[in-house]
Amino acid sequence: MRGFDLQGHRGARGLAPENTLAGFARALAIGVTTLEMDIAVTADGVVVVSHDPVLNPDLTRGPDGAWLEAPGPAIRSLTLAELRRYDVGRLKPGSRTAALFPQQVPLDGERIPTLAEVIALTRAVGADGVRFNIETKLFPDRPDLTVAAEEMAERLVAVLIAEGVAERAMVQSFDWRSLLWVQRHHPTITTSFLTSARTLAPRGADPSPWLAGIDPRALGGSTPRSVQAAGGRVWSPDHRDLTAAQVDEARSLGLAVIPWTVNEPADMERLIAWGVDGLITDYPDRARAVLARRGLPLPQPLPSAR
Ligand code: G3P
Ligand code: CA
Repeated sequence: MRGFDLQGHRGARGLAPENTLAGFARALAIGVTTLEMDIAVTADGVVVVSHDPVLNPDLTRGPDGAWLEAPGPAIRSLTLAELRRYDVGRLKPGSRTAALFPQQVPLDGERIPTLAEVIALTRAVGADGVRFNIETKLFPDRPDLTVAAEEMAERLVAVLIAEGVAERAMVQSFDWRSLLWVQRHHPTITTSFLTSARTLAPRGADPSPWLAGIDPRALGGSTPRSVQAAGGRVWSPDHRDLTAAQVDEARSLGLAVIPWTVNEPADMERLIAWGVDGLITDYPDRARAVLARRGLPLPQPLPSAR
């Protein structure tokens, strides 16, 4: 990998509406090496940028301007034109998400963007070196919520190739099936293997359905060895579960380690001291301050992006 990879989570979720053009512009203005984002596919086959497969009432207002009362509808059930009618530029006051991100500055009127629009934004502001870490949001236990893993991966890669950014993109997923598809069909595209306690947990005698048939129990319970067994080169663990010994093990296997989602400067300091290759954060401004204190190079800010 190149230098330290500072990734803005859903743009800069702590500071601007998540997974929106405004949020990605904010991250670029602050200065990141990578924009982290999540995708869904609409009923008419368009790759859009959303964390949630169904519209989230904590951040979505309907065409009538009212907050959604419950999750839904599913993005896969809406055409892009229908999806455009929803506003995702403000957190619902009093919601759990609003309490988590008190510094988030709203921008009414923001829509769920297409992936192509996000890439176009980077071109428009001259962020020609910025990288993309794009998560296929899939749910092995809820296949009804999304298109199939292979279709999502295929549609994603088609956009990356059409937009000419495949070399700057990394495909990430908790659902390793989509990563194996990318490895098989587009082996030059980097894949990043996400893990959490929930997705690693076996189902009785069966392995977790998230791991594409890999069973960590057959590998001494080692998550880094499981990533390696799946052909992975990048491991992206939940930072709360990560240990220094695991970072050492991953590095000895030749894996890069990019933990998520690291928002406290003390955690950033500790993980950098352990030798992680990057981190994903809702607060790229905080991460830059930590990198600066340690004398590490900083990604170029693009103030005009904002
Ligand atoms: O990239 C890792 C991180 O984004 C995973 O968590 O739920 O925010 O997509 P989530
Ligand atoms: Ca994500």
